[in-house]
Amino acid sequence: MHQAINALYEEHVIIIQAAGIARDARRLIDTEPARYADTMRSLLTFFREYADQYHHHKEEEVLFPEMAQQNELLADGVLQEMLENHADFRGMLDDIEGLLREERWSDAQDAVDRYCEALQDHIAVENDEVFHMAETLLNADELDRVRFRFEDGDRERGDARKAELAAMLDTLTTADL
Ligand SMILES: [Fe+2]
Ligand SMILES: [Fe+2]
Repeated sequence: MHQAINALYEEHVIIIQAAGIARDARRLIDTEPARYADTMRSLLTFFREYADQYHHHKEEEVLFPEMAQQNELLADGVLQEMLENHADFRGMLDDIEGLLREERWSDAQDAVDRYCEALQDHIAVENDEVFHMAETLLNADELDRVRFRFEDGDRERGDARKAELAAMLDTLTTADL
């Protein structure tokens, strides 16, 4: 696998880890609601920054446009579907934030579960279909260019902040939810 595609796979692993923590957090609602709220706010930050800014940027601004250039049909098909998913995810996170603000924990968690399920389905389509297409459509030079642009994007947003967001997940995991 080319390093550019591998970078996206590795981010997916971390995002799936966050989704697992988010689902497990339900058990805190009755016993430790304050900790539930803190955990969810941390996860919202993670999903908005790590998943949406660092990761979705790579797909939306770099990889998908490169793929669409090679095959115009893709732009209206699966890539369009992926972009619509990303937009839906932003709306879902806003809804979750609103429910948390109103301290409607159980409704918030139902929305979190729906978000995580949709996110996992989305990632499965990218892993199983979209990334294989990318490796077929783009040659090694084009994939190298994609990788450099991924690295530039991370650097602009902050490599240290990206590492901090991933490390934050470990603290939530080891906190024995
Ligand atoms: Fe995506
Ligand atoms: Fe993705």
